[in-house]
Amino acid sequence: MPKTLKPKIKILDTNRKDNEEFMISLCHRNIPTKFQYWGNKETQNWLDVCKDPQYINWQLEIDLLSTDLPEIVKLVNPKVKNLVSLGIGNGEKDKMIMNAFLKNRPMRYFAIDVSLHMVKAGLKTLQEVPGEKTAYIGDFEHLEKLAPKIRKQTKSGNLISILGNTLGNLDQITTLNFIRRSMDKNDYLLFAVQILEKGKILDIGDILSAYNTKVLQKLSFGAIMRSGLKRTDGVIEIEFGRNKLYPQFNTIEYFFTFKKDKTIKYLNREINFKTGERILTYYSYKYDKKNMTFLLNNNGFEIVRYFFSPGQKYLLALAKLK
Ligand SMILES: C[S@@+](CC[C@H](N)C(=O)[O-])C[C@H]1O[C@@H](n2cnc3c(N)ncnc32)[C@H](O)[C@@H]1O
Repeated sequence: MPKTLKPKIKILDTNRKDNEEFMISLCHRNIPTKFQYWGNKETQNWLDVCKDPQYINWQLEIDLLSTDLPEIVKLVNPKVKNLVSLGIGNGEKDKMIMNAFLKNRPMRYFAIDVSLHMVKAGLKTLQEVPGEKTAYIGDFEHLEKLAPKIRKQTKSGNLISILGNTLGNLDQITTLNFIRRSMDKNDYLLFAVQILEKGKILDIGDILSAYNTKVLQKLSFGAIMRSGLKRTDGVIEIEFGRNKLYPQFNTIEYFFTFKKDKTIKYLNREINFKTGERILTYYSYKYDKKNMTFLLNNNGFEIVRYFFSPGQKYLLALAKLK
């Protein structure tokens, strides 16, 4: 039985760099979703979302993993002995993956995450999991350089995971492309996303009830609080519909709309907001089976297996390079 080793934490992006990126995103009125997980309070907001029974996506994904991990372990080549997790969260799903693989082979754990606080919370959950664990604090984009190094140093293939609909919180094409460039032919990608059947009102209702909750509203607003804005400076508006940039996908978007003029100062930059102006604070793309398959095939991936939740509301997908 391998020993439980003390995890290593390596800083790739400094606080200064993240703060500058955050300030620029405030000026652009468009906050990258990663900032909603960034600090201590933001981490707590996500931990609360995971425990909220109204956030139905959590249980759908946990159930999928419980049912399908044994099959996923069988499908992944035995030479793959590294889990490289994009976004540790509370660590519960990564613990399930590690435990399933450890029954079959030795496995090392790597995570990339913007949030040191999230990493600490996640590693606590993973503390009983034996073997080497390394967490990198920084943007997922570091994967492109890190993954080949990990593969070379360990002489093992990588299983890259991006769970919890995180792919839908990013520009999926950019993300799939840097993931693809980080992989070689023996590596795998495991991801989970919420899906809907086009035009099904029932599914739209499900999506709104999963996202229009108190805890998710708090999460969507968490990052901009650090700029000195208050909840009472505006209203949170949630919109669902076709994405403007990628009309083939739907998105749920959270806006903070100002009720009054407001000036804030962040890193010595003054930013003025006028009544009625909006900040896009959070978004989540939604897919269906057809457009997800198209997205994967057109960005260099081949599907190894799709695993659907009952009623096809959630998808866990294992993919490889074409
Ligand atoms: C929606 S949570 C999902 C967590 C976990 N994978 C799960 O499924 O429960 C997203 C996670 O990814 C991290 N994250 C989001 N965007 C990121 C980015 N662009 N770069 C680095 N970390 C990011 C967050 O800090 C958080 O831990």
